[in-house]
Amino acid sequence: MKLLEGKVALITGGARGIGKALALKFAAEGAAVAISDLRFDDNMQATLNEIAALGVKTKGYASNAASYAESELLAENVLAEFGRIDVLVNNAGITKDNLLMRMTEEDWDAVMAVNLKSVFNLTKAVQRIMLKQKSGSIINMSSVVGVNGNAGQSNYAASKAGMIGFTKSIAQEIGSRSIRCNAIAPGFIETEMTHKLPDDVRKQWISTIPLRRGGKPDDVANVAVFLASDLSLYVTGQVISVCGGMSM
Ligand code: NAI
Repeated sequence: MKLLEGKVALITGGARGIGKALALKFAAEGAAVAISDLRFDDNMQATLNEIAALGVKTKGYASNAASYAESELLAENVLAEFGRIDVLVNNAGITKDNLLMRMTEEDWDAVMAVNLKSVFNLTKAVQRIMLKQKSGSIINMSSVVGVNGNAGQSNYAASKAGMIGFTKSIAQEIGSRSIRCNAIAPGFIETEMTHKLPDDVRKQWISTIPLRRGGKPDDVANVAVFLASDLSLYVTGQVISVCGGMSM
């Protein structure tokens, strides 16, 4: 029996990067997988084709996770199509890095809306469904930057730290209904988000990592499979770093 057989997962920002890696690992473990992203484009279609090739049901949705109304509709549509939602991964995220001195109000608001408000939006929308089911696993994609802070990323760090406070609160609110809520704090993972960084910054960052390499999306996906599966039935309210030892 595969680890996620019979489960339905919804992953936001699932068309590429870490979200896509999670979608593929979940599918390989037998889960039906719904993914959402800002647009239904070729990228999303390609990801859906890869998921479907693993023999599970899948569907993609264009939905802005920062919008409360779109998130409610997304949860309703996934429930109507798949019949249940066992796992929610709040993965959609953006960066708009700058020193505070140069950070605009728009950069602050955009990062808060996509990274933090989205977690409220989707968790609230899916909570009702999981409460009826009396089970569920919510996984929030935070960051080591939310734990340690990082110069030039005060908006991003604040949003990711906010996710951790939210995760621990929700774990306390709905633990009695067997609904778990955990956060993953990835370190430096090689995706389009980190490819935007200048080469010297990447090299400098990697030299400080005990395992001396950037992480792969699959490194994060392996931990997400654990949190989504019944192997972690007694794990809630936790922040698990996947960072090659960068944060201890
Ligand atoms: P990415 O930029 O490659 O992928 C993010 C995905 O989210 C994209 O498909 C994008 O279209 C989607 N997205 C953006 N705004 C959205 C919105 N409003 N609604 C729905 N979808 C939206 O990023 P990556 O690296 O895969 O990151 C995924 C998550 O992991 C993010 O939350 C990020 O903050 C977090 N993370 C990434 C790290 C890294 O080193 N790459 C480290 C720590 C955390």
